[in-house]
Amino acid sequence: MKQKFFFSPLSIGTCYYPEHWDKTLWEEDLRRMLSHGVRTVRIAEFAWNKIEPREGVFDFSFFDEFLSLCETLGMKVIFGTPTATPPAWLTQAYPEVLNARIDGTLLRHGARRHYNYNSPKYRELCARIVEQIAIHYGKHPSIIGWQIDNELNCELMEFYSESDSVAFRAYLKEKFGTLDELNEKLGTTFWNQTYTAWEELYVPRPTISGAVNPHLMLEYKRFISKSVLSFAKIQADILRAHIPETAFVTTNGLFGNVDNHDLEDTVLDVYTYDSYPNFAYMADAPSDGMRDRWWSRNLTKVRSVCKHFGIMEQQSGANGWNTGMEAPAPKPGQMKLWAMQSVAHGADYVSFFRWRTSPMGTEIYWHGLLDYDNRDNRRIRELDELDSLFGQIKEICGEDYVARVAIVEDYDNQYDAELDVWHGRLVRSSNDGLFAAMQYSHTPFDIVDVRDDFSAYSVLFYPHPAIMTDETIAKLERYVSEGGTLVIGCRFGYKDEYGKCPVGRILPHLPFAGVTVKESTFVNPDGVKVSFGGRLISANWYRDVLEPTTATVLGTYTGDYYEGEPALTEQTYGKGKVLVYGSTFGEEREILDYLGVSEPFKDLIVCARDVEIAVRGKYLILLNYAPTAQICCLSSPLVCMDGVVGTVVEGELELPPYGVKVCILA
Ligand code: GAL
Repeated sequence: MKQKFFFSPLSIGTCYYPEHWDKTLWEEDLRRMLSHGVRTVRIAEFAWNKIEPREGVFDFSFFDEFLSLCETLGMKVIFGTPTATPPAWLTQAYPEVLNARIDGTLLRHGARRHYNYNSPKYRELCARIVEQIAIHYGKHPSIIGWQIDNELNCELMEFYSESDSVAFRAYLKEKFGTLDELNEKLGTTFWNQTYTAWEELYVPRPTISGAVNPHLMLEYKRFISKSVLSFAKIQADILRAHIPETAFVTTNGLFGNVDNHDLEDTVLDVYTYDSYPNFAYMADAPSDGMRDRWWSRNLTKVRSVCKHFGIMEQQSGANGWNTGMEAPAPKPGQMKLWAMQSVAHGADYVSFFRWRTSPMGTEIYWHGLLDYDNRDNRRIRELDELDSLFGQIKEICGEDYVARVAIVEDYDNQYDAELDVWHGRLVRSSNDGLFAAMQYSHTPFDIVDVRDDFSAYSVLFYPHPAIMTDETIAKLERYVSEGGTLVIGCRFGYKDEYGKCPVGRILPHLPFAGVTVKESTFVNPDGVKVSFGGRLISANWYRDVLEPTTATVLGTYTGDYYEGEPALTEQTYGKGKVLVYGSTFGEEREILDYLGVSEPFKDLIVCARDVEIAVRGKYLILLNYAPTAQICCLSSPLVCMDGVVGTVVEGELELPPYGVKVCILA
């Protein structure tokens, strides 16, 4: 991870669409924003027609006028390249730029993101408008940064156009060199899928039963990621040729079928995320205990991509499209809570979506800070509270989130788990389980990409990497021999890098774990658990019956034909150790307790279950997701920020419903 730009000081922004409003509103809007602490606006990301109303005809008068007002009033601007919404004149003239459904039906003009990344024509027209904009506005004094496109791979992360098939063939040719190699590596002999000419290869097309070669599909996902990166890089390179070094290039994520780490490292200066925790309260959302707290996992993932990120779109009002998505308004306190959830996890810039609710289009129910009535409301009052709090904690910028535990992730396994329902089931189960275990035991954790440095962590969980390379095994061996503790789950390493299952591979595919897998099975929910340290812990969906060679047995299954057989083992290796768990991880905290990493701040504070704790530098942040007040017990007095003055709190610290407290560690 090589972050090149850092937001500072901690600040607030909003998404503004000058093209949605009568110009007479602009000045009042900007002044009003500034009076509530909003110092940056993101603009233009869907406004292609305002700049190139006809092919090759460029007119900057609209944004010239708006930007000159920003300059006069001292409003900073993040300018979006408008390539997420190709104009009607463009798709009419060049239908090859459109994305398609899997059956080849073109996805027409009328919504957004209807283009494909690989059409040479679209790349040419995007490059041209980005260059024109960069030449005209690159050095504008109000512009502090640039957003490429909008939410790459949002709404649809699969591409089935003719241009995509052409580019996919080129990708495969470059990767495999010959058809013999491709056929062998991708196992095409199964069901007679052997290819005899490159032209026979396509992006996925409809098949009977929907089954497709899973190994080719894995390549297809890798290919989409490469397409996203090369599309974004064209724009980043053009921008950088015209903007000052101080201005940043970003995009707003985080979506599937993209290696976001690679995107951040090779294309962007800083990553920004769009955080909408209110999705958890939509009409059909599952009502588990985590709800909006689940967004902390998403934010953890963003922090893995970029330690000190920005929020380009932070939930303010209710979400809603007229075509779907029905959600209640955030309750009093939730808007501020969610903004602070972002800050707690590493955000140094928080920009609310959007200033005022759109009076037209698909998003008439996606509420902004203001409603159509344009009057001050409780969201504006929460914005003021947040502004005061930001003023008190501004030095949090650039401070690291503190965690000793991490979960290892990698894109090959992420993609494979999206394609393979067995693998996917395990990953989802352990993701949910581990997240709940960490949250309820108040154990802050990071997500670390397999390519990144592990040395900051005393414990690493690597739940179910079906695909395992020799390079990763060597890296894990180094980590353990130097003193780390590695905890792995079932189905470790049974696939090669193409997703095939090599014959003769002994599982778990980890030579220094001191254990093998005697046999294994998928299981439907049946109540069988693992007995460990006098307690029972979950063992859902899959069971590896372990057979230690040198490892010690820590836990055994409580039922079925493997009752009493090993389910959890431990092996010391070098200065560290490896724990192998034969199943998926549940929300119990026993393994964390056993390893001595749960509740790292318990000498300072004992938190209520519904409260999340995060520490960034000297700032201790407490987030109450519950509709009721929660009490945390302090061992010694702490200074607490309430947005006005710091107050010393002793003994019991009460968090109001959906409340936030920021305390200063001595
Ligand atoms: C984001 C998108 C915004 C807006 C918002 C609410 O995904 O970037 O443009 O659409 O969601 O739907």
